[in-house]
Amino acid sequence: MEKFRVSGPTKLAGEVSISGAKNAALPIFCASILTSETVEISNVPDLKDVSTMFSLLRKLGVKVELDKKNKQCEIRANSVHSIEAPYELVKTMRASILVLGPLLAKYGEAKVSLPGGCAIGQRPVDQHIKGLRLMGAKIKLENGYITAKAKKLFGAKITSDVISVTGTENLMMAACLAEGKTVLENSAEEPEIVDLANFLRSMGAEISGDGSNKIEIFGKKKLNGACHTIIFDRIEAGTFFCAVAACGGDILLSGVNKEAMGMTLEKLRECGGKIIHDQSGIRIKFFKRPNSVSFQTSSFPGFATDMQAQFMAVNAVAKGTSIIKESIFENRFMHVQEMLRLGAKISVRGNTAVVTGVDVLKGAGVMATDLRASAGLVIAAMAAHGQSMIDRIYHLDRGYEGMDKKLNLLGASVDRVKG
Ligand code: EPZ
Repeated sequence: MEKFRVSGPTKLAGEVSISGAKNAALPIFCASILTSETVEISNVPDLKDVSTMFSLLRKLGVKVELDKKNKQCEIRANSVHSIEAPYELVKTMRASILVLGPLLAKYGEAKVSLPGGCAIGQRPVDQHIKGLRLMGAKIKLENGYITAKAKKLFGAKITSDVISVTGTENLMMAACLAEGKTVLENSAEEPEIVDLANFLRSMGAEISGDGSNKIEIFGKKKLNGACHTIIFDRIEAGTFFCAVAACGGDILLSGVNKEAMGMTLEKLRECGGKIIHDQSGIRIKFFKRPNSVSFQTSSFPGFATDMQAQFMAVNAVAKGTSIIKESIFENRFMHVQEMLRLGAKISVRGNTAVVTGVDVLKGAGVMATDLRASAGLVIAAMAAHGQSMIDRIYHLDRGYEGMDKKLNLLGASVDRVKG
């Protein structure tokens, strides 16, 4: 298994470009199932989760042509021969659940393995199932699989009990080919939902309200091919901004805009960052030790749970004490034990962590446990004095394109070594 060897402390300076958003790309690839015509997608990030999704689509019979060099792909679902997403693929990436709605809407049936839990939580999909049933699907849960059938889906008024990003996405995609009007209430408002809606509209779907907590979709008989450019990854951008907050420096991230960054920029200002945005991107300067910032994670536009570990790394070296409440997932503090090994002062009680900033973290051996925890560990290790080895960095490669290369472009010392 590959590791990162990180030498610190680090000062970051320079410019890097942010890749396409993983959490926009994955639903958009699945939405391509809704048409038999070709779709062309640009700004495709080079990530493990993207190649996993392409493997799943190809297993269904969907044609996927990837031009890695130009970050583009062509997808055509005109020869689907299977409606089954098998456990061995779904267990490696729970976003595979996003083929459920499109397969059911297009082919009248779908058999998708239950994703099962992961390091950060149980990750149920009851809201996905509830919504599809309200649209007329007959759904059975047996032998670890969701088996769904529907001669035709019908528009319905669906109020989610829990705000779910992929739940909203699955139902939005299914509703595009349902008969009549669907209203999704208590829907997720993330920028990735809006990007998916923009893609669906370019295919001929009739959708409004995306980006709010109420989305309306008028179903169509068929959708057409389209071209689409994936939005930038706001979590990758936030991760780099947290790196400069923890380490100090002055970086420019091109291709990002402040709207999609939500509360991340506000919290970085609270940390003491100087933020300048212009048409080329967003520049952040940190020339003093950051201030501690407290926050509670919530759905967009609240504080993103996917930024929690990264800001914990900033708080670990900041002035003062901070309180972090993780309200979305039940087990998303796996990075705490590892940060303690670097000398951080963190105590956890239930879903609340109290972080007291220390003057110096010290390099040590640590282990990545999940995607965003790993990002937090890289940040803490870059700020630490001395050398750290971060094991199991395959977690990082799922959601960050060439993170080591980009950080080294900014002056970091992050070497990928064979385990
Ligand atoms: C999406 O996951 C993201 N993944 C996650 O990013 C992100 O952390 C999460 O949204 C929250 O923002 C993708 O978009 C591929 P949820 P998702 O359904 O959709 C509960 C990353 O690091 N829930 O919004 O799976 C659930 O248990 C990943 O890139 C139900 O109870 O998350 C959780 O507590 C990690 N029933 C809360 O809702 C359901 O049917 C939010 O989950 C669905 C969810």
